[in-house]
Amino acid sequence: MRFDFATPIDRCQPWPSQKWQRYEDDVVPLWVADMDFRSPPAVVEALASRVEHGVFGYGRVPDSLRHTFCEWSQEHYDWQLAPAWQVWLPGVVPALHLASLAFAEPGDGILSVSPIYPPFLHVARRTGRIPQTASLSEPLTPGGPWQLDLEALEASITPRTRLLLWCHPHNPTGRVWRPDELAGLADLVERHDLLVVSDELHCDLLLDRGARHVPLAVQCPQLADRVITLMAPSKTFNLAGLTTACAIIPNDTLRQRFEAQMRGLQSDVNVLGLVAAEAAYGQGDPWRHALLEVLRQHRERLVSQASQWPGVVLSPPQSTYLAWFDLRQAGLGDAPQQALLERAQVALSDGADFGAPGFVRLNFGTTAQQLDEALARLDQVLGQ
Ligand SMILES: Cc1ncc(COP(=O)(O)O)c(C=O)c1O
Repeated sequence: MRFDFATPIDRCQPWPSQKWQRYEDDVVPLWVADMDFRSPPAVVEALASRVEHGVFGYGRVPDSLRHTFCEWSQEHYDWQLAPAWQVWLPGVVPALHLASLAFAEPGDGILSVSPIYPPFLHVARRTGRIPQTASLSEPLTPGGPWQLDLEALEASITPRTRLLLWCHPHNPTGRVWRPDELAGLADLVERHDLLVVSDELHCDLLLDRGARHVPLAVQCPQLADRVITLMAPSKTFNLAGLTTACAIIPNDTLRQRFEAQMRGLQSDVNVLGLVAAEAAYGQGDPWRHALLEVLRQHRERLVSQASQWPGVVLSPPQSTYLAWFDLRQAGLGDAPQQALLERAQVALSDGADFGAPGFVRLNFGTTAQQLDEALARLDQVLGQ
């Protein structure tokens, strides 16, 4: 293979990482959502050349990055972006909070679904707004897909609801929302006059062969003036530590409000992150395709292993490198993440943080060797 996704890399020495240093050395860490792979060679080379320049003063978003991202968007999502719609900033989570401040007033409702990537659940309170959460529907059959429950979502809306925080594809279930689900969502958004922040951070990692991401703003063009789309190279190309993301806001008024809200709260763009983003979107696609092959193999491995564990249910993720396990019937008590940490020395993410106690999220963006080691350890506990 042209790219190396097999050789384990030391992520403790000399450069510490959150993932590998939160737990004891003998724990296999499959929790926080970054991967144990080097970024594409083209990205590493572009960064080396930028570092060689040696001057790291305040940067500017280069026009070449805006154009490269327009081309990526056209090619991958059939979405003709204007360069001016792109607001580059140091993170998707900051963008969620800024949107709450910019588009809702204190006391307004911020709507989301659960389970969900934990920061979604904290945005409202952290910004003085009111959290409103509706549950997704659990799979109808074990291992089937999680479903959007539009009725529950609508029932959570009040006259003060302003903003829907949406995740597409969805972390943690890996669901890629179908066109009919998005159409139903758009209808509800329009009827209740909401704005939507569509976090599409995982959109370049659709796992089913031939699957193509359709942004909410493309699937439902009637929402174009209501959607703030968040994208970034960070998950796809393993660049989270370079803190670079993009808010795509076609509506001029919304974009100006968002940018005004950034002032003083948001640090400048990261000069290395911008270089990495341009190299990733410009030259990283062959690497991404190779990565997807590895992730597909890992997904198969997980599904086959999980089918041998009594009481464990896994709906195969349609996207990204996160697997969402239902362990409520696995005999591990009501804190399965802790039980697996203690008994298997494998660190997973705790479903309780996502609004779903009894579940865990496993990050399979790691080497086959590491994944095998983790599965062997989990098998000792779950395979009984
Ligand atoms: C859906 C989603 N949004 C946002 C983030 C974090 O983005 P950032 O590091 O740019 O704040 C993650 C990280 O896992 C995520 O899964």
